[in-house]
Amino acid sequence: MNQLLCFTAALCLILFNICVAGLVGVNYGMLGNNLPLPSEVIALLKSREITRVRLFDPNHDALQALEGSGIDVILGTLNQDLQNLGSDLSFARSWVQDNVIPYSEAVMFRCISAGNEAIPSDFAVHVLPAMRNLKAALVEANLGEIPVSTTVSTAVLGNSYPPSHGEFSNEASTIMKPIIEFLAATKSPFLVNVYPYFAYINDQQDISLDYAMFNCSEVVVKDGQLGYMNLFDAIIDAVYSALEKAGGDSIVIVVSESGWPSKENGDIATIANAQMYNNKLIAHVNGASGTPKRPGRSIETYVFAIFNENLKPPGTEQQFGLFYPNMTEVYHVEFTH
Ligand SMILES: *[C@@H]1O[C@H](CO)[C@@H](O)[C@H](O)[C@H]1NC(C)=O
Ligand SMILES: *[C@@H]1O[C@H](CO)[C@@H](O)[C@H](O)[C@H]1NC(C)=O
Repeated sequence: MNQLLCFTAALCLILFNICVAGLVGVNYGMLGNNLPLPSEVIALLKSREITRVRLFDPNHDALQALEGSGIDVILGTLNQDLQNLGSDLSFARSWVQDNVIPYSEAVMFRCISAGNEAIPSDFAVHVLPAMRNLKAALVEANLGEIPVSTTVSTAVLGNSYPPSHGEFSNEASTIMKPIIEFLAATKSPFLVNVYPYFAYINDQQDISLDYAMFNCSEVVVKDGQLGYMNLFDAIIDAVYSALEKAGGDSIVIVVSESGWPSKENGDIATIANAQMYNNKLIAHVNGASGTPKRPGRSIETYVFAIFNENLKPPGTEQQFGLFYPNMTEVYHVEFTH
């Protein structure tokens, strides 16, 4: 009888998650001196039916606010902690002790990310050791089911065009290969920040704004049998190609960041463009069409970011928010379509 009850409860939980947890979440960046309290921010997410969030570091107020919220969390470590996490298992144990265990009953940890865009950089060599020690500490705490990964930018790619030619750069390759092996062995996702905006502004000769903004209804790029109508899919398929070449064809991609700034770059960074990009991004992801290379495979995606953050570098970097710090919308984005 008890077993049956447990089974039914588990099934309900699974179904509940499938139905309720949308595929699209948001990044909760906190580089602002005028942002609302975490409890207000989490309430805002709930009111908008946003069911996933990514934190760049283990802010305890945010984690506390997330308790019982039903919102799944990708929890990052600071890059500055990677060296200690990687070289000292007891440091990794205390990190898990302080930032995961106290919340693990009431917060759904989707994944722990060892650092953000740490490859390539001086931190890069510490990423895999940090991932290993975090995983070991989680296993010791009976939380081994929480995946451990790292978040990269597309700077790890040496080649991304056409998508089938995607591969890691020589510089990143040495670091990436064993990380890919770890992700495959532990069935953990690959977290990648995907910004058609930056690809477009760096190569306006070859890329059209419509292609970057999901505003094409015809194939723009042909790659063998495959046709691409938007740059987002092309970038993701370049990452799939790179993963395959590194022995990671079973690995699931999560888009840990994507977005478009609404100001500070002429006609390109406008509210209208940012609104179009993010709404089309969400509709594309929720449509579960996958990409030409992996059709039908849904890609969990996190929009960058909840707020405009005034302590980021001046310019477009401060203008990626869906909301102003006073919690009014910069523009409306529909998360539930
Ligand atoms: C989107 O595409 C339509 C049709 O080609 C065009 O009229 C419109 O200007 C485009 N919108 C943007 C914001 O580029
Ligand atoms: C919120 O902040 C924005 C940007 O500073 C401003 O335009 C808007 O009027 C403010 N809204 C409220 C309700 O204060």
